[in-house]
Amino acid sequence: MSAPAPVARRPRIVAGNWKMHRTSPEGAALARELASLNAADPASATAPVVVLCPAAPVLESVSRALAGSGMALGAQNLHSEPQGAFTGEVAGAMLRAVGCTWVIVGHSERRHGMGETDAQVAAKLRAAQRDGLTPIVCVGETLAEREKGETEAVLVRQVTVAYHGLAMAAARATAIAYEPVWAIGTGKVATPEQARDAHKVVRVTLDRVLGAGAGQATAILYGGSVNAGNAASLFAEADVDGALVGGASLEAASFWKIVSAASAAG
Ligand code: PGA
Repeated sequence: MSAPAPVARRPRIVAGNWKMHRTSPEGAALARELASLNAADPASATAPVVVLCPAAPVLESVSRALAGSGMALGAQNLHSEPQGAFTGEVAGAMLRAVGCTWVIVGHSERRHGMGETDAQVAAKLRAAQRDGLTPIVCVGETLAEREKGETEAVLVRQVTVAYHGLAMAAARATAIAYEPVWAIGTGKVATPEQARDAHKVVRVTLDRVLGAGAGQATAILYGGSVNAGNAASLFAEADVDGALVGGASLEAASFWKIVSAASAAG
């Protein structure tokens, strides 16, 4: 009897969330540095998808700097409506036109800092797909929720509301970032075991909401104080498919060490 065909690994993804850092010229310079590090790396079948997510006014210069590099451009947010009287907001079609193929949706700084609701996150996920962008849907518990033993319930609620009613094929064309709020920007990274447990909850929830197989098919990134020193131990977890990186994505050398750790993890 012949051996079963190996199951393809979910794509590895390393995304840099620059938040409200870097002006347009600074962003272009950082993107150019990353593009040359990328070009210097030997081609590898295990190289992750690399996505840079600058602030909206910086997208265009970074888009130009990344042209031909193989690295992708993402935005940090979008509005759920295709266009209209929404002062200060940005539509998916605008992001797409400037070269974005990815967008972060429901980051905790938007959920907790700007009052974004689960329902708004669900609408943004759908808007991203309507406008040709791959959403990275962020979920995660606060410290108070973890201490009250509510981590699982929070993840189940956030994933269920975001994915309820989505077709399986649409769900597979998304990524999720598990970002415990207490780990973001604090230097307090989740342990690989905490990340593994949370990612399992997300996968089981996807199966329950969408049908068997959805969980295994969806890339789940970990985010929250990922750096060059801890990335390899996180990527060693089979359920951790990559990282959403804030602070450590603002310098080319530190970000590239995380990208290299993802390549090395295979
Ligand atoms: P951090 O941010 O890596 O600075 O903790 C991660 C994020 O907010 O996506």
